Amino acid sequence: MTEETAPYGTGPAKPDAPAIKRIRTHHLREMKQRGERFAMLTAYEQYAAQTFDEAGIEVLLVGDSASNNVYANETSLPVTVDELIPLARAVTRSVRRALVVADLPFGSYQASPEQAYLTAVRFMKEANAHAVKLEGGIEMVPQVRKLTEGGIPVMAHIGFTPQSEHNLGGYRVQGRGEAAKKVVEEAQAMEEAGAFAVVMEMVPGDVATEVTASVGIPTIGIGAGPNCDGQVLVWGDAFGFRTGRMPRFVKQYADLHGVLLKAAQEYAADVKAGTFPAEEHTF
Ligand code: KIV
Repeated sequence: MTEETAPYGTGPAKPDAPAIKRIRTHHLREMKQRGERFAMLTAYEQYAAQTFDEAGIEVLLVGDSASNNVYANETSLPVTVDELIPLARAVTRSVRRALVVADLPFGSYQASPEQAYLTAVRFMKEANAHAVKLEGGIEMVPQVRKLTEGGIPVMAHIGFTPQSEHNLGGYRVQGRGEAAKKVVEEAQAMEEAGAFAVVMEMVPGDVATEVTASVGIPTIGIGAGPNCDGQVLVWGDAFGFRTGRMPRFVKQYADLHGVLLKAAQEYAADVKAGTFPAEEHTF
């Protein structure tokens, strides 16, 4: 009797695979110092995470964008810690090299440094996250300090911060004109508080360039021009899993929706025609 392949996909454990050096926060800093760029993508589940890890993406973010991209909410606000932890756990289990950063969702860290610490500890213990990300500038300094002093690496997120979209008056570029100074100060404050990197979202390219030159920690752009140390995109946007109008800063590298749609239509047609399963799929 021959052994069958596991029917519903296997977990990532591959005990005979060669050891791979994991990306650590200091590697990103060293890359900045060498002038090497790095790539970050969101990931919310096993196969995408494994694929991106295999592709050499240095950082995977279990973003609160799972709210819109996994849980079908309109914004990132409704997603909860309990909803994000299982996704983060799946991603950390699936990668061998990438640094996995878990987003702290809206309402789970803003109230106090203690609240932030307790939430971040859940992601580190229950999901084995390697770091957490939180949104906000100067007002988040106590939170970033508390986490980093407590052994939790923090990625900051400034510029347009989607959790504050109602406060910011919608999806708008931040840091234009006089407000540029504030973006620079926020990045510097995050570095001083101990953040190991800072995401800048929807910030004019020249402002992001100035920020990148003014901090020692890596900057990661999303809609922040080409001069950041790294770039991040939501994977469904970048690879065409999501359809419809995309933000201007998205480049689409694939049409996964089209591929999947065609495959699903062909499968349905085969089933209806009785041509699947065929002889070779039958025991
Ligand atoms: O949640 C997310 O996907 C993010 C990225 C857009 C940076 O925060």
